Amino acid sequence: MATFVLKQYNLNITYAGSGSGDVTLDPSGGVYTHGQSVIMTAYPNAGSTFTGWSDDHGGTTNPDSIVMNAEKNVVAGFDLSLVTISGTVSTGAGSGVGTLSSMDDYKAMSALLEKEKKQFKGNELAGQTLGVVGLGAIGSRVAQTALLLGMEVIGFDPALSVDAAWRLPSDVKKMENLSSLFARANYVTLHLPALDSTRNLINAEALNAFRDGSVLLNFARDEIVDVSAVVSALKSGKLRKYISDFPHPELLPLEGNVCMPHIGASTDEAEDNCAIMVARQLKDFLENGNITNAVNFPTLQLERTSGFRLAITNHNVPRMLGLVTSVLADANINVIDLLNKSRNDIAYNLFDLESAPSDAVIEQLAAVEGVINVRLL
Ligand SMILES: NC(=O)c1ccc[n+]([C@@H]2O[C@H](COP(=O)([O-])OP(=O)(O)OC[C@H]3O[C@@H](n4cnc5c(N)ncnc54)[C@H](O)[C@@H]3O)[C@@H](O)[C@H]2O)c1
Repeated sequence: MATFVLKQYNLNITYAGSGSGDVTLDPSGGVYTHGQSVIMTAYPNAGSTFTGWSDDHGGTTNPDSIVMNAEKNVVAGFDLSLVTISGTVSTGAGSGVGTLSSMDDYKAMSALLEKEKKQFKGNELAGQTLGVVGLGAIGSRVAQTALLLGMEVIGFDPALSVDAAWRLPSDVKKMENLSSLFARANYVTLHLPALDSTRNLINAEALNAFRDGSVLLNFARDEIVDVSAVVSALKSGKLRKYISDFPHPELLPLEGNVCMPHIGASTDEAEDNCAIMVARQLKDFLENGNITNAVNFPTLQLERTSGFRLAITNHNVPRMLGLVTSVLADANINVIDLLNKSRNDIAYNLFDLESAPSDAVIEQLAAVEGVINVRLL
């Protein structure tokens, strides 16, 4: 039965040129890492010297590391600068190479995991302060969940929508600015879009305002974070961890870096839900004129109060609303409710009417200068 050791110490090796090396492992074994994929290597014949470590990089200069469970195990004469590491690690005759899945003894596995669990010791979230940057659809839910986990939650969002404000629990303390959030939070989580104004928002200056030993989580957008500033902050201890789904080569060697695949929406349900959501939003637009998540129109929803609704699009110029309502007034049509919003050059209006406008009235509305489109719904 192979003995597995989960403990890791890095022995950094840059393997330029050619050569070979021998290495002796201490009695508790060792682990070899190749890039980020870890091959658990068992050494029942611990204490012996393994020769001919080899690697499929074939003489490239990529840095790599042998991970061992004691620093002092390199045998005399082992010249790290001449090591060529390639292919699958060869551990010599009589040894085993495998993963936990190759263990077949339940008791041995339980004992091993029990013994080594201290290596996975974490930190309790209860009582810690989470700073949520961006309190929209995702940020507000994260805030809610963190409260349930017993965290204190503070948040910052300069343009909170009415919907998001409704969703937000009152226990979330709103901060006036980012630096006061950074100064109070042990954990900072980002949930804002990548815009010109948010690109590299988390830079060296921002990180300087963080508490020492903070944890930064970024599952929003890569561009929001200046990776070189994060690398420095991890090295200096300003950041204890950077957890994201945006891997960068320069982050990978750092102990405080935790990278995940970009899997925020990777569930069977998410694909279906997206399709259903889009179909519902289109139906609502076609039937009621409501607009959600358009890329070029304002977001606008109005509960229907009558059976007659006009949806009018016009250029975003002065007096349009007056011109349209005067056509309706001249036709003796009462407006029960109306909503008007604009986005850049476009304005969009919904009018709920007490009586049906005739074709002639609709033609008159369409003829108003600046009106682009009129729909009776
Ligand atoms: N990693 C993933 O797989 C994944 C999946 C889904 C969404 N996202 C990203 O997560 C982010 C949040 O998504 P959402 O659905 O909650 O978006 P949302 O539009 O509902 O919320 C974003 C919020 O950020 C706020 N905001 C804008 N500028 C800000 C600033 N400078 N400081 C603080 N807040 C600011 C907005 O006012 C808004 O309330 C988006 O960038 C989205 O693209 C990532």
